[in-house]
Amino acid sequence: MRSRRRVSRILALFLCLAALGVAAFADGEVTPTKVIIDADPGVDDSMAILFAFQSPALEVVGITTVFGNVTIDNATANALTLVGLVGASVPVARGAEHPLVKDLRPPPTFVHGADGLGNAGRQRPVGAVIGQTAAQFIVDMARRHPGEITLVPVGPLTNIALALAIEPRLPELVKGVVLMGGAARVEGNVSPVAEANIFGDPHAADIVFKTPWPVTMVGLDVTTRVRLQDDLLERIAKANPKLGEFIYEITRFYKSFYESRGVSGGFYTHDPSAVAYVIDPGLFETEAGRVRVAPEGLAEGQTITAFGTPPEFWSAWYDAPPVEVCRGVEAEAMLELFESTLSR
Ligand code: BDR
Ligand code: CA
Repeated sequence: MRSRRRVSRILALFLCLAALGVAAFADGEVTPTKVIIDADPGVDDSMAILFAFQSPALEVVGITTVFGNVTIDNATANALTLVGLVGASVPVARGAEHPLVKDLRPPPTFVHGADGLGNAGRQRPVGAVIGQTAAQFIVDMARRHPGEITLVPVGPLTNIALALAIEPRLPELVKGVVLMGGAARVEGNVSPVAEANIFGDPHAADIVFKTPWPVTMVGLDVTTRVRLQDDLLERIAKANPKLGEFIYEITRFYKSFYESRGVSGGFYTHDPSAVAYVIDPGLFETEAGRVRVAPEGLAEGQTITAFGTPPEFWSAWYDAPPVEVCRGVEAEAMLELFESTLSR
């Protein structure tokens, strides 16, 4: 008799928990994905970081900085500016100031402005960086939250390669890597074959692509198909002046760069596409491919991707496990997601 009562109590508890679960599901409540954004902000990096901060699907547990669009000093000052702007208490860790092997090249001030925020006078760092390097911070967070963190690198991959050197078990400790970089079936943007982030540190990129962990490459194949126009930015600025006006102001310089290069129908979003992938992978179409990176020479920084080549001809690609290479994107839906998230 007593055991029957216990069974019915357990059953009632189970039904109650199930009902709560259904209610949470119905309300769209899901546990947000923990992300560390590794960035070289950068105008599009800044949009990506704000997009991530605003998304209820994501929990930004840290920002790590890297050289690239700007010097490491400016990248770090800009990350602190963004954290200050949203009023988040999120750690910022300063990362690599130069590539692993090749010499550092001057930053592309003609794309992002000398300060990396489109020379809009909006660089106002708040607070200070933490004591750890970016690579050490990535390792520590992955150890603290095993299997939970998605790394979202949107600059050169130096910090990620350094983190792998510190902790070879990193692939088992993170949930995955969703990176903006590379060009699989399209032209590059810093050479006919190379994309800027991969070109920035090709040796680091090759390490990342050779590591057996779940990597998604959100490259130029898709990021150039998502183009931002001013009317969308104006709507965000109206709905959410604090972030929207900031984005509108910093994108003026970046916009003129793309216009001067003949890009029509808006300017490339690039880095926000990687964040969009983490929020809603269903917006993208991917294809498995093995990526190796040319370290130097004419093809320096090229992400040479083996999709279907017969195995006997691709010995150099045996070392590289298949990664998910984005080849399609629902551009309109992604822009809607960007707008609705930043308008919150
Ligand atoms: C990538 O290079 C940088 O200019 C952008 O921030 C983006 O991460 C695009 O090739
Ligand atoms: Ca970037």
